Amino acid sequence: MTADLFDAVPDARPSREAMAEGALLLRGFAKSFESEMIPALREIVGQAPFRRMFTSGGHQMSVAMTNCGSVGWVTDGSGYRYDGIDPNSGRPWPAMPAVLYQLAVQAAIAGGFDGFVPDACLINRYEPGARMSLHQDKDEQDFAAPIVSVSLGLPAIFLFGGPKRADKPRRYRLEHGDVVVWGGPSRLFFHGVAPLADGEHALMGRQRINLTFRKAR
Ligand code: SIN
Ligand code: FE2
Repeated sequence: MTADLFDAVPDARPSREAMAEGALLLRGFAKSFESEMIPALREIVGQAPFRRMFTSGGHQMSVAMTNCGSVGWVTDGSGYRYDGIDPNSGRPWPAMPAVLYQLAVQAAIAGGFDGFVPDACLINRYEPGARMSLHQDKDEQDFAAPIVSVSLGLPAIFLFGGPKRADKPRRYRLEHGDVVVWGGPSRLFFHGVAPLADGEHALMGRQRINLTFRKAR
């Protein structure tokens, strides 16, 4: 067989998959942003390092987090909120780099949400075993804007449920470069991430990085 024939073998995974009304999985959408995105992330993490925050109930999260944008999502003894200041440094969060902003806006358009203007990007780092329990993203002021979620590094099982916590979630394998957009009728659907399986990603190493873009204010 020639290289041409190999090249012609399509990816078995469909490039777009509807998950619910208003929710779409865009496989590989972030790939073309990768070469600019990874150094931009390295810079953000240099200014605002990952930290494992505590929930209002006093539990330390297994996922380590940081933010970029005009506001960042934080959790501590007083609950969940968006704050313009990184509590660890006392300084504003690093600005959202143009490459991340563009990725989020273009993914939102591909998902049917024109005019998305994200002001916050929560950056989650999962090491093997880290997980995120089912929750709603509901600390934002305006639920008309979607959530745009970008996955990098090790694959993870994303759990996407329904409007009620008890709704049985469906499981989606998210790989490096995959983007999920959810909004409209599914904006407040419960979602989470199963414990990360161990592995080594060629570019990102032994971790998964997830970026969620939000319009918080
Ligand atoms: C989140 O809900 O903030 C994270 C989702 C993910 O890591 O895929
Ligand atoms: Fe979330």
